[in-house]
Amino acid sequence: MKRLQLSARQSADVELLANGGYAPLSGFMGEADWRSVVETMRLAGGQPWPIPVTLACEYGEVGDAFMLIGAEGTRLGTLLVDEVYERDLLREAELVYRTTDTAHPGVAALLSEPARTLAGRPLVAAMPRHLPAVAPYVLSPADARAAFTERGWRTVVGFQTRNPIHRAHEYLTKAALEIVDGLFVHPIVGETKADDIPPEVRMQCYEVLLRRYYPADRVLLGVNPAAMRYAGPREAVFHALVRRNYGCTHFIVGRDHAGVGTYYGTYDAHAIFDAFVPGELGIEPLFFEHAFWCPITGGMATTKTSPAAPQERIALSGTRLREMLSRGERPPEEFTRAEVADVLSQAYARERIEV
Ligand code: ADX
Repeated sequence: MKRLQLSARQSADVELLANGGYAPLSGFMGEADWRSVVETMRLAGGQPWPIPVTLACEYGEVGDAFMLIGAEGTRLGTLLVDEVYERDLLREAELVYRTTDTAHPGVAALLSEPARTLAGRPLVAAMPRHLPAVAPYVLSPADARAAFTERGWRTVVGFQTRNPIHRAHEYLTKAALEIVDGLFVHPIVGETKADDIPPEVRMQCYEVLLRRYYPADRVLLGVNPAAMRYAGPREAVFHALVRRNYGCTHFIVGRDHAGVGTYYGTYDAHAIFDAFVPGELGIEPLFFEHAFWCPITGGMATTKTSPAAPQERIALSGTRLREMLSRGERPPEEFTRAEVADVLSQAYARERIEV
């Protein structure tokens, strides 16, 4: 059988198509779904779906059967090609990412693909292998749902992140946890842009933080194998739908969710949810404003809960954090817990990674 070598992003998509993380999708989109998703944020059948899940490939014809090879070499299963079409990549960039600028990492990834696209449903026999640091946290949607039921959680809030959990993230997750039964910490461990902190370092950050600062019976850590798209508002809806499939009832959307640079407004990822009627997504978004350390109240807060003037608020950016770590300085307690700062400092010193 002919082989089709997948990229890391495509392997992760196969995993999520096969395990139900992308339901109602079970295969790479055909042209009608692709067009409808790009133009209307809905599948051709009308269900909400904001980001195309497609398989770009220069070869292959309708009726061909391929052995899919994961990025890390696993023979994942077979794909019977049932459609071949050309995507208008610039149109996809414009509508999904709101920009065609190739300095945007999601747009760069999109525009580096061939426009020629295969559609079909993979028949998956084996899942991609994950890094040793990540593998213990790989849960399918069915596993996650079973774990929630076992813990007696009727309401569960999902938390997406591509970063270590800093104080602002901690504040959001705990504020949300006050009104639901459980918290599903569900970081993305697929491809991220070069200067994001690698998953094996982040997993260590999550472990030390959860062990010391969260009650064990209220939190579950699992990983989302998908690649980051950095599509901002559209990706917020995408992230919410995937967490619905993992069994969450609520989903945290903070400031500039899944954004990068200055492509999106701070709260564009809140506003986009107005495009759907309540209940339609099957998961309730919980919106949070920009959180910071408030020196007056001596705790994390937002402008909704803190009287501090803008110049009094302590909010470290990722860039400032990287600068501090590269100079061997410790990020302050107001920004990140000491145990997390230790993991990051050590990783930075050891690997010279760009954190
Ligand atoms: S993201 O690409 O996964 O969105 P990140 O890991 O920084 O990036 O954010 C995870 C979640 O926390 C997102 O919902 C984001 O909007 C939210 N968030 C991050 N930092 C803050 C902050 N300082 N205040 C409010 N929300 C935040």
